[in-house]
Parts: sequence; C-alpha cells; structure tokens
Amino acid sequence: MSDRKILITSALPYANGPIHLGHLVEYIQTDIWSRFQKQRGNQCYYVCADDTHGTPIMLKADREGIKPEDLIAQVGQEHLSDFNEFNIQFDNYHSTHSAENKHFSSLIYERLRDEGHITSRSITQAYDPVKEMFLPDRFIKGDCPKCDAKEQYGDNCEVCGATYSHTELKNAISAVSGEKPIEKDSVHYFFKLADFNDMLKTWTTTEGHLQTEVSNKLAEWLEDGLKEWDISRDAPYFGFEIPDAPGKYFYVWLDAPIGYMASFKNFCTKQNLDFDEFWAKDSNTELYHFIGKDIIYFHALFWPAMLNGAGFRTPSAVFAHGFLTVNGEKMSKSRGTFIKARTYLDHLNPEYLRYYFAAKLSAGVDDIDLNFEDFSQRVNSDLVGKVVNIASRCSGFIKKRFDGQLSAHCSEPELFQQFIVANEEIAALYEAREYGKAMREIMALADKANQYIDEKKPWLIAKEEGKDQELHDICSMGINLFRLLIAYLKPVLPQLALESEDFLNIPEQVWPSASEPLTNHIIKPFKALMTRVDETKVAAIVEESKENLAKISELAVKKFEPISDEIEFDDFAKIDFRIAKIIKAEHVKGADKLLQLTVDIGDETRNVFAGIKSAYNPEDLQGKLTVVVANLKPRKMKFGISEGMVLAAGPGGKDLWVLHPDDGAVAGMRVK
Ligand code: 2FM
Ligand code: ZN
Repeated sequence: MSDRKILITSALPYANGPIHLGHLVEYIQTDIWSRFQKQRGNQCYYVCADDTHGTPIMLKADREGIKPEDLIAQVGQEHLSDFNEFNIQFDNYHSTHSAENKHFSSLIYERLRDEGHITSRSITQAYDPVKEMFLPDRFIKGDCPKCDAKEQYGDNCEVCGATYSHTELKNAISAVSGEKPIEKDSVHYFFKLADFNDMLKTWTTTEGHLQTEVSNKLAEWLEDGLKEWDISRDAPYFGFEIPDAPGKYFYVWLDAPIGYMASFKNFCTKQNLDFDEFWAKDSNTELYHFIGKDIIYFHALFWPAMLNGAGFRTPSAVFAHGFLTVNGEKMSKSRGTFIKARTYLDHLNPEYLRYYFAAKLSAGVDDIDLNFEDFSQRVNSDLVGKVVNIASRCSGFIKKRFDGQLSAHCSEPELFQQFIVANEEIAALYEAREYGKAMREIMALADKANQYIDEKKPWLIAKEEGKDQELHDICSMGINLFRLLIAYLKPVLPQLALESEDFLNIPEQVWPSASEPLTNHIIKPFKALMTRVDETKVAAIVEESKENLAKISELAVKKFEPISDEIEFDDFAKIDFRIAKIIKAEHVKGADKLLQLTVDIGDETRNVFAGIKSAYNPEDLQGKLTVVVANLKPRKMKFGISEGMVLAAGPGGKDLWVLHPDDGAVAGMRVK
C-alpha cells in the first residue's frame, strides 16, 4: 500500500516510580498511531526505554539499600508488564543505562565539543557536607522565605506558590542527611544552545514540525534568548561519566533523548536493520516523538540542536499532548484519582481506557479529562451497546438457521460501499491524531448499521414462512458491517479486534480500503466480546488509590488536610455566617467535650453546644465576639438542641482556636 518508513517514540518513563494513568495517555496515543501505521502497511517501528539516570534514582536505591542497577531492573520489569497488559506494542523497549546509550551519548558529546559547542566554567551550588554530594533543589528543604511554611523545597513553596533560590530558604537542610547545606564551587560543562539560534528558528517554524500553539510558545522562548544548558553533574551521580572529564557525569536529560536512538540501535542489531537509514543526516525516513507538553523545551530546542550539531537528522515532528485530569481536577492521591496502571489493571479491562482516551484525544495540547461517569457511559453505549451489539444481534440466526455460514451474496452493496468509502476520512483523522473525531465517524457508521437492522427487523422475519433468504441476507450484511467497524477500531482496540477476528474466522484485518464482503463464509459461535463497565470496579479503583497522606512521600509531606472539592459561589452563599456575642458560657454536666454557649446573633439569642471544652475555660469566652453558622438546621444532642455552630480552627484537643472578628463588628452582622 505504501512504502513509508516511520520511527515513533514515546517519552521515556523515569525508572523511579510506577506507570500511572497520566503516563498512559501518551503511550495509548502513540500506540494507536503506531498500530494504525502498521495496519496501513507502512514500515513502522515504535521504540521506547526506561529513563534510568539521575539523583532521585540514585538516592532511592540508596534508601532501599540496593544498587541503582538493581532498582532500575526491577522497575523496568514492572513498567514492561504494565505496558504489555495495556497492549502497548513496542517494537523495542530498552534502557538508557545501556551500552548503546553510553556510546551515542559520548559520540554526540564529542562531536559537539569538537565543533566548539561545549564550554565549561565553575559554578557555586548547595552541597551536603555529610553525604558529600551536590544537592538539586528538590533535595533541599526549609521554611518558605515569603510565608514561613515549613518543609518547602529548595526552589518553590507549595503553600504560597513563591519561587526563590535555595539560599533564600530559611533553616535550610539537606533532605538526604538532615544537615545544613554549604555552598561549594565546581566546574560544570555547558551546551551552547545559542549557537543553534538560527537553525532552531527555522526548525521550529517549519510547517509540520510542531503544532501551531507549540511553535508560538517556542517563538517566545527564542525571543527571550537561548541560555547555555548545564549538561554535567558531579559525582556521586548515577549516569555516564563524561569521556574527557573524570568525576563529571552527563545530566540525565542529556542522555534521555539519546535513549531513543539507543533503543532503536539495539533493535537494529537484533533485527538486522540499517540504523543509518533512519538517523543519518540525509535520512528520508520519518521520525516522530510523542511527548507531554511539559517537556517541549527539551524536545523542540535541546534535542534538534544536539542532533544537528552532532551530524544526525532532526525529527520530522514532535507531537505534544496535554495532561490528564480526573473528574476535572489534577490527579490527587488524597482523592484517589492518582491511579496507577496496575491498580486499574487489577479491576478493569484496559481496552475501556484505550477507547475512552481515544474518544477524548485530539491533535492539540489541551488537557484531557477522565470523568468516571462519562467513561462508563461511553464504553457501555458505544462499544457494548452499538458495536458488539451488531454481532450479537445477527450471529444467533446465522448459527441456528444457516449452520454458521454467511449468505452467498451481498444484499446491500451500496451500504457496504458506504462503509468502505468512509475508510479514507477515518484514516485521515487517525493520521492527523484526531482520534476523537475518528471515533465519532466510526460510531456514526455503527449507528447506521444498527438502523439497518432496526428497519429490517430480522427477529420478526425469522418468524415468517419462506423468508429464509431475506433473513440470511440481513444477518450476513450485519456481520459484514461489524467486520468493517472492527477493522477501523483495531488500532484502538487490538484485543477486541483479535477476538472478533477469531469469531469471524478471518485472518488479522488490514486497513479495508478495497475490501469485498465475506460470502459463503463460516463464522464461529458468538461469545460476549465485551461486557459493560462494572461500576463497583470503578469505585474500587478510586478507593484503592487513596493513600494515607502520611505515606505519600517522605519528601512531600503536607501539613494540612487537602483543600476540599471546589464549590460554586451559590453553594457558599447558602451558608449564613453571623457575628455572635457569647453572652454566657458554661460547662455541661456529663459532657467531656462540650461547652454550652448562649449567643446573641443580633435579633435573637441562640443556644449552641461547641466541642471546645478541651481548649477553653467558659470564663475566657464570656463577652467575646465570634462567628457562628446561623442557618444550620438545629441539631438534637444528648444535652439539648444546638441552634448553630461556632467557628474554630485547629486539629483539636488543646489546639483549638475560636474565631473572633476585628474590632467594630457587632452581633447580628452577616459575614460574607
Ligand atoms: O519527563 C519524563 O518523565 C522524562 N523521563 C522523559 C524523558 S523523554 C526523553 F527525552 F527521554
Ligand atoms: Zn510560602
């Protein structure tokens, strides 16, 4: 069909943590594209690898008391089995800690150096005198210089959002040893990115290389000027030593994209393929990198510049995608929406998620949302209710009345032809990564097939005498339309396609651009090809993903409970807060926690029981102003009826503080 030669990559996942649903947006997006290209008959290879170097991986191995090599081997296995079960079909999965990657990292560095694109100078950095290592910002903790929040990272405060230099952090300590960091000088190596200013201006604005919004963003960065990029790190570091600089290592982001080449080289050796055909400067093959929008700088500036400077080809395009939100919000461990691939796999069919992401993906960089209600509804209605339903509606008659054999001719050649003609539009949408639109086209065809069956009513015809041929034709037509739908869905749903091909008793389907209907063909008995989403499984995934906040990470312990779910202004406005004067405060006989307050809220007095006995003596409260929720439904308690709620902060026990308004507020005023 075509003789395109295509090499595709997804970003290399770090070997210090598990694959989660956020990662999967990209692997599923890339895998669909790769499978589509292969189904079209193109020579297409999809390679990836674990990104294994850097300080976090070194320290994690250290904490676990194992060698980094053992850690990355173990994580690599976990990543691979997650990918396999999600049907991500890599042609090769390698590691950046490999001989091939060491070779190409050194080669690229040496070529850049020999062309004068590398420089070195001494810089000053935070240093852990106990652990004897330089500290990246995320391994320095202290109090925020702006808001005093405790245990903030070296470069930004998660509480107030301030950014600063680690030297501004108060009471800074090394998160590795707990020691106060010192400042220390050391020589670093830099890649002179500005040497590639003109080349990058052209590359980033050449039609097809980047999405428009990405290219515009890069124009801003190029306008701001390109700074030298620090590509070295001092020992101890888990990575590759720089050839002519003992004790200095390549920064993980230098050798990570080179991992794309290394993985392909490893594949070429195994498959006896010509590496240079894909990577030489004059290559006319296609090279595409699928990435998240957070790593555009690395892929659209550093990477093309490195390749160009070292005499290799540059990418045909870099395709960026947005982030995953779950139920409209950033994935959150406390809400149970930070979902690991493994947790999902323990409960649900991976093809549900592949279809759902496909239905939401476009060629743009907008974030995509996984909404669980929408997820179940789409899978149930599209895949089970529309597509699989066609086969289940028709196959029973074929089996029972016609010995499993399809009729000898196609009764509706026009309808069949419509389904064939649609292949061009659907292929164009896949090619343009407009999967959402492609899924809509395919579902529109599924609707057509169902309408056809609804109109012909085979279940009625089956009861009529002498209408066997008609029944046979209708059901055979339905099966043939189902077959085409499955061919179009195959890049997204390879497992469903495989099982359907088995049921249809046909070989793996190529892209159906000129297909003939199956006639006189024996199909196998129908078995449920896909079942509806079990809601209890979705709930189980969320529940299992909720982590005790204390467990999340020793380095990212939050001091306060997470902010609650967002509410509308109208929800807030429903609460009637009033300034209240505490006229009387007294102990309640028999109550361990409660004080009984009589509060004046302007036009009336209220009786309120407040759980603040552990922190206040009644006499400390009498005469003071506070804030109460005045429209809370009265609550019958053991000791009487509570007609409001006093606002107080703090975790409890002695640590409770009743709110007081500023001077001037009087009882009865509404607080808003
Ligand atoms: O952002 C990340 O997760 C990196 N590990 C991606 C690397 S992509 C490529 F450059 F290797
Ligand atoms: Zn702060």
